[in-house]
Amino acid sequence: MRDLFQEQLEVLRARSLERKLREIGSAQGPEIDIAERRLINFSSNDYLGLANDSRLREAAVAAIGKFGVGAGASRLVSGTQSLHVRLESAIAKWKGTEAALCFSSGYAAALGTIPALVASNDIILLDKLCHASLIDGAKLSGAILRVFPHNHLGKLENHLEWVQRQHAGKRVLILTESVFSMDGDRAPLRELIELKKHFGALLFLDEAHALAASSNG
Ligand SMILES: Cc1ncc(COP(=O)(O)O)c(C=O)c1O
Repeated sequence: MRDLFQEQLEVLRARSLERKLREIGSAQGPEIDIAERRLINFSSNDYLGLANDSRLREAAVAAIGKFGVGAGASRLVSGTQSLHVRLESAIAKWKGTEAALCFSSGYAAALGTIPALVASNDIILLDKLCHASLIDGAKLSGAILRVFPHNHLGKLENHLEWVQRQHAGKRVLILTESVFSMDGDRAPLRELIELKKHFGALLFLDEAHALAASSNG
């Protein structure tokens, strides 16, 4: 078995692409313990400090006391916990939306939603710097995939014109992020909305790094 993957591993090592997990011995926060050293943490996405918030810790302990630690099965098959229903209705109220649906991770959200919005023969137009989960969701949908250079409205418009010419009547989904994970820059949302309306496309925004920014105005 080792031999089967040895060559592949060596290729990864040679390209400095071998990944190793760092073990963290403390709760998440501005400082964390790694290998018995206290380090300042610049790499986390816990921008709001919720991962170790005392009110959330207490609420989580109380919820475990009442509901235990597992959902039992898929919520579609065996019913959904009332806690999840309450969470989704609170999120919908906070975001001012009709409804909300929670997934266990951002990756699961992308894979669960994108194929529900478009299918094979539809079109996805994706910003080049989109997170890998959006690319995987796009591939899983089976839609025709076109990538536009990062935040390049002109190229996106060219793609939309191409869809109009070659794939009239097909559903078109523009995939982007409101705040980009790696570069920290923002998508030009006003212009994207104008384009989406003009061409009758759908717009999918990954707000993994932007929820706090948008909710605080
Ligand atoms: C923009 C974006 N979308 C989706 C994800 C995936 O989220 P998760 O790690 O919860 O699967 C990430 C992860 O960092 C992300 O940066």
